[in-house]
Amino acid sequence: MEFPLTPEQASTFAKHVDLVFGTFTGFNLLLTLTVAVLALYWTVKYREGTKADRSNPPEASTKVETSWLAGLTLLFLVFFLWTARVYFDMATPPASAIQMYGIGKQWMWKFQHPDGQQEIDELHVPVGQPIRLLLTSQDVIHSFYVPAFRVKQDVLPGRYTMAWFEATKPGKYHLFCAEYCGNQHSGMIGHVIVMDPADYEQWLKSGFFPAGRGRPMAAAGQQLFQKLGCSGCHRPDGTGLGPPLAGVFGKPVPLQSGEIVIADERYIRDSILLPTGQIVAGYNPVMPSFQGRLGEEQLLQLVEYIKSLG
Ligand code: CUA
Repeated sequence: MEFPLTPEQASTFAKHVDLVFGTFTGFNLLLTLTVAVLALYWTVKYREGTKADRSNPPEASTKVETSWLAGLTLLFLVFFLWTARVYFDMATPPASAIQMYGIGKQWMWKFQHPDGQQEIDELHVPVGQPIRLLLTSQDVIHSFYVPAFRVKQDVLPGRYTMAWFEATKPGKYHLFCAEYCGNQHSGMIGHVIVMDPADYEQWLKSGFFPAGRGRPMAAAGQQLFQKLGCSGCHRPDGTGLGPPLAGVFGKPVPLQSGEIVIADERYIRDSILLPTGQIVAGYNPVMPSFQGRLGEEQLLQLVEYIKSLG
């Protein structure tokens, strides 16, 4: 019978994470065993009544002291650089990553593809392509966890977090919520289904979408943008009360306060919900807050629309 010590490795991160995990486990085991064996040996050697030498001569060698201290310091610096590298890789999605969205709610996962397809407790992705998942929660803290990908990311209400991965082989992998989120936390599970790119394209066109096929998110966002009256102030020609939004996404924005911030998804979200928090230089704090008027899905649609403006 097979008894796997770790889950299957199905993403580009998996072997790196496992190597870090294995190395530290091995290192800790070695230290623990060394201390335990020495403690046992000396316990026996110096037990009451033995003829062991107890004179304790002052023979500490500076050379020995400094070399083991320097050696360990170097070793841990190497560990630091190595693990920081793994961490930064996992925190930095490549520019070519496909954007997808996930919302956690008690007690299910809802995923959206930019073209509008929506899924519940299932996420279909193509193999061999980086996927960037923007995550948020509609209620309490959840955690997006796919053991086979070695990806775990907390999903928080009121803000966006990001996880990315590149699956390396087609298959069906467990998806868990890894943060206790209420009495049906254990049922907040699902699957990530990794498909060949051609199958994935086919699935996007003809798959079964219980949560709706939806329209492309940017188009839904554009309609909201009109309906909520955003377009009256954020005019493309810059004559409105608010700044024009074309080309803003991903760029630095100078604020009234003198600060410069990057217009990422979180900035757009905050600007909609807490508009007086970050006023763009040269504009007045006249925008009303949309707090309580928009759901997470609508916010994501607006984000996707503003991203699509180039
Ligand atoms: Cu959601 Cu636990």
